Amino acid sequence: MDVQSGTPASKPRSPGFVELTAGIAALAGLLFGFDTGIISGAILFIKNEFHLAPLTEEFLVSAALIGAVCGCVLSGRVTDAIGRRSTILITAGVFSVGSIVSAIAPNVGLLVVGRLAVGLAIGVASYTAPLYIGEIAPPNLRGGLVTLNQLAITVGILLSYVVDALFAPNQSWRWMLASGVLPAIALELGVVFLPESPRWLLLHGFRERATKTLARIRATENNGAEIDEILEHAQTGSGKIAELLRPMTMRVIFLGAGLAVIQQVTGINTVIYYAPTIFQEAGFQSAQASITATAGVGLVNVIMTIVSIPLVDRVGRRPLLLSSLTGMLLSLVLLAIGFALGGPALKWIGVLSLVVYIASFAIGLGPVFWLLISEIFPLNIRGQAASIATTANWLSNFFVSLTFLSLLNGLGNVWTFLVYAVLSAGGLWYCFALVPETKGVPLERIERNLRAGRKLRELAN
Ligand code: BGC
Repeated sequence: MDVQSGTPASKPRSPGFVELTAGIAALAGLLFGFDTGIISGAILFIKNEFHLAPLTEEFLVSAALIGAVCGCVLSGRVTDAIGRRSTILITAGVFSVGSIVSAIAPNVGLLVVGRLAVGLAIGVASYTAPLYIGEIAPPNLRGGLVTLNQLAITVGILLSYVVDALFAPNQSWRWMLASGVLPAIALELGVVFLPESPRWLLLHGFRERATKTLARIRATENNGAEIDEILEHAQTGSGKIAELLRPMTMRVIFLGAGLAVIQQVTGINTVIYYAPTIFQEAGFQSAQASITATAGVGLVNVIMTIVSIPLVDRVGRRPLLLSSLTGMLLSLVLLAIGFALGGPALKWIGVLSLVVYIASFAIGLGPVFWLLISEIFPLNIRGQAASIATTANWLSNFFVSLTFLSLLNGLGNVWTFLVYAVLSAGGLWYCFALVPETKGVPLERIERNLRAGRKLRELAN
């Protein structure tokens, strides 16, 4: 029964429907992972074919990131104007076109244009998919379903490494880039089955459609209360800029943006994008061998993300985050020692330290960052605050990727990895001092504590 209108609800909750819907939306996360990861193998051949200087190479790897920064700045407005579902549909189209343009590009210029377009889609996807999943998920499933998006990112990265390994023997970088079209088409077909977010529908006055959608994805009795709650927050949503600039909200935005920066400046994407390059530095001679070793790194990333899913709600966010950063710090120091020692041992120290590094990231800093930014912000500014944190994440990702090869050339490999180790130590201190334990805590309590002026570390007490 629709409590609001008194009319019978259209359909009972379809079992598994919300999970399926979240799974389809997470395909956008898969594309995010696939399209960011694919360049790591392709770049080895592209740089030979076009004789790229290090700066041009960095720029090409980073082109998708520039697109992503623009994409996630734009995405807040676009998803509000045309809806989450249409945004995801258009994103899938841009993914396909960008992949084709970069695959057939006759010169570096067009390759950069294609990668910029793919990046734009990645930026929009990275913001819209978790937002959509968060809006359709019932509160008791939200943690797991949001983390599903991170899992999809890691699966996408792994798939990209497998595709890289498959095409490496023929040096077919064009096929590597073209294969991004397949998951994009899967997303496009999948979106046809997605309902629009009931929250967006209500905000735009489509109450009947929102009621029908909620009836499919919820226990029907709760619809009235949920509709009231959404409409109430829609009203408090006015005057958002003023709300964003209040010292109370600025503090928590600072926390979220700080976590975004830490997730990137500790070097994760030097491994994700440049792992084959690092393996070559460590002594794996052929591009084929280093790409295969990289696929192993991708597999560890997926497995440890799966391990993290039940742990975030059992062990808690803080222990995972702190042990994650400790593991990353130690493995970076080990990698630096390996490079300092050199010799035949370097190969295996390289493999060991990268595996420990990626496992540590995947079990904590990877998923927990995305989870925390869906939890710590007050509801009426959650979208915009999350978009600020996502933009901070892409900007720092861009900065790290753009400077990595120059650091390697300028400082040498030992000092480069020590720089990331020092930044990990800083991140560890930041998280220890500021991150609250939000495990099992209702989001309303976090918001109440924030408004009451509690310290960031005590927001969830
Ligand atoms: C990060 C990405 C990274 C990926 C690796 C995500 O949480 O935001 O930058 O490439 O994890 O799994």
